[in-house]
Amino acid sequence: MSNVSTRPPVDAANCLPHVSDSAVIEMEERFGAHHYERLPVVVREARGAWITDAAGKRYLDCLAAYSAANTGHHHPKIVNALVQSLMGNCGSVISNVVYTDVLGLFLEKTANFAPQLGPRFGENGNKVLPKNGGVESVETAIKMARYYGWKKKGIEDGKQEIIVFNNNFHGRMITVVSFSSTPKYRSGFGPLTPGFVSVDFGDLEQVKKAVNANTCGILVEPMQGEGGMNIPPEGFLRGLRQIADDNDLLLLFDEIQVGLGRTGRRFCFEHENVRPDGLILGKALSGGLVPLSVFMTNARLMDLAFNVGSDGSTFGGYPLACVAGIAALTVIEEEGLVERSARQGAKLKAAIEEIARKSPHVKQVRGKGLFIGIEINGGRAMDFCRRLLELGVIVNDSHGHTIRISPPLTISDEEIDYLLERLERVLL
Ligand SMILES: Cc1ncc(COP(=O)(O)O)c(C=O)c1O
Repeated sequence: MSNVSTRPPVDAANCLPHVSDSAVIEMEERFGAHHYERLPVVVREARGAWITDAAGKRYLDCLAAYSAANTGHHHPKIVNALVQSLMGNCGSVISNVVYTDVLGLFLEKTANFAPQLGPRFGENGNKVLPKNGGVESVETAIKMARYYGWKKKGIEDGKQEIIVFNNNFHGRMITVVSFSSTPKYRSGFGPLTPGFVSVDFGDLEQVKKAVNANTCGILVEPMQGEGGMNIPPEGFLRGLRQIADDNDLLLLFDEIQVGLGRTGRRFCFEHENVRPDGLILGKALSGGLVPLSVFMTNARLMDLAFNVGSDGSTFGGYPLACVAGIAALTVIEEEGLVERSARQGAKLKAAIEEIARKSPHVKQVRGKGLFIGIEINGGRAMDFCRRLLELGVIVNDSHGHTIRISPPLTISDEEIDYLLERLERVLL
């Protein structure tokens, strides 16, 4: 089993002073915003699917930073690429007034990683606009849909509307929290951004009713991660594609959490064999080592909406992120992580369903690939997460009622057995 302690090649103590766990917690309390409720573990090392604390206690990371660590922590090939670029003096941020070779290589690799997006606009290839955190690329997608509505559909600027879904999660910046259905995410942060209509996830009739002359796009997570690990009914994505085509709307898929192999397909939309007009990726795109996200679309649409001065980002597409991105996508391909997610996910889900049949606590098990939710009767999933932590497993709740199981896609058979043994202990 790979839960054998292996120190990382660089000892952090060479760069940082040693601080005790209690000092770490005290510093956060004193100098940090209290915007996360943390589990009581101070992580000192992360490798593969394992996280280690100062006392050497090891935890199987079955959360993987909400899918950001899909390739496992500190994947050696991605780390090596980053170290080489730093040692070779080609990693630091470069002013966007000049070219860098790695940006070109990253754009090509990413554009070709997805099928032709927005095929109704022609087989023009894809174009990619890189940003940092995921929410930035969600906003880029929103800009694209609004611009399309104004320029191509003749909607008055300022009147464009985008259809979104209840229980969505697209990040934390003002525009995106403006259409969150979770009051805590937006209360007190007004004035909020107008131009969004929210309907029930999975309900095509509600989507049809929400379309009007000002509608320019539909923004959806093909499966909802933060909203409770929700899988839409079969045909939902195909139905959205149809509505978008019938009404000349841009269909935008946020695959920040469910893309890049997480659900057992390279992209979640492949489960329904549809293609969006715009695709948003983040998290695992850089192997979990630097912030990196992208908005991708048909080359024709990208050229329509974005030209000199209409968008930009100092760090978006900077060399170190591009190096990480190329390496992470290469690892996903070379190590067959998409197929592995499908295979290991099917095995894990079947075993969890077996436990669920005997458990008085489980309401439902749902998911695809290594994106699995265990909904708890009575809705207190965090109680079970805390017990799992004591047993050496890191997971968290999604929407209060569901335990989210999303380990690195590299998870081995032995690691799955380790997880199942502990799930049995807390659920039976
Ligand atoms: C579906 C989805 N969209 C957007 C985001 C926001 O990404 P970030 O936190 O990198 O801004 C997240 C983060 O969890 C997400 O799951």
